[in-house]
Amino acid sequence: MRIDIITIFPGMFQGPFEHSIIKRACEKGYLDLHLHDLRDYTTDKYRSVDDYPYGGGAGMVMMVEPIARCLDQLKSSVPYDEIIFLTPDGELLDQKMANYLSTKQNLAVLCGHYKGVDERVREHLVTREISIGNYVLSGGELAAAVLVDSIARLIPGVLGDETSALSDSFQDDLISPPVYTRPADFMGWKVPEVLLSGHEKKIREWRMQQSLERTIRRRPDLLREDEEQP
Ligand code: 6GU
Repeated sequence: MRIDIITIFPGMFQGPFEHSIIKRACEKGYLDLHLHDLRDYTTDKYRSVDDYPYGGGAGMVMMVEPIARCLDQLKSSVPYDEIIFLTPDGELLDQKMANYLSTKQNLAVLCGHYKGVDERVREHLVTREISIGNYVLSGGELAAAVLVDSIARLIPGVLGDETSALSDSFQDDLISPPVYTRPADFMGWKVPEVLLSGHEKKIREWRMQQSLERTIRRRPDLLREDEEQP
């Protein structure tokens, strides 16, 4: 899969993309990440990417021109399945959306900033608007890193153990059961007996029971997900 990220802060991705799963996905050739500095697509000497809002008001607005120029250039060589704009008023990212996006070949991701972007970008240039939660971040970069991580780990072959993405919390609308490792007794804090029993069927049942109990207690909304949301 190829993902192109358009940003005014390409440096913000150095940390998240140079470690762990995303790094491994790139090294193994499953993920082809490209960062594009939006300022490289400006034409004035100040390399401006934003301007004052028509009609007045506080804050700056990201201009349509550099974004259109950047996307035009990218689109001439890559057939994008989706062009995603990251914005707090977009559709909420969930596991279902991550699963869907992980099946695509080419994605472009535009990171918003300032007060917003010129509405014509949203009307004409993007195919999807995504938010990572009901809170406001200073820009779309951290959200883009979250989105890329959620997608990358689902690409077949990226995770060492092929089954482990499928057993993630949320993948079946249940929270994962608790896990333990050695020692079996740490200062009197004991690992549940059943996990030491070697009894596979009992362990499976215990884990399912724990998943259900935890989901009911912590995230009852997940169990009601199929019903109409108000
Ligand atoms: Cl995608 N962008 C910003 N700026 N804030 C957010 C967000 C995105 N998702 C949640 N908050």
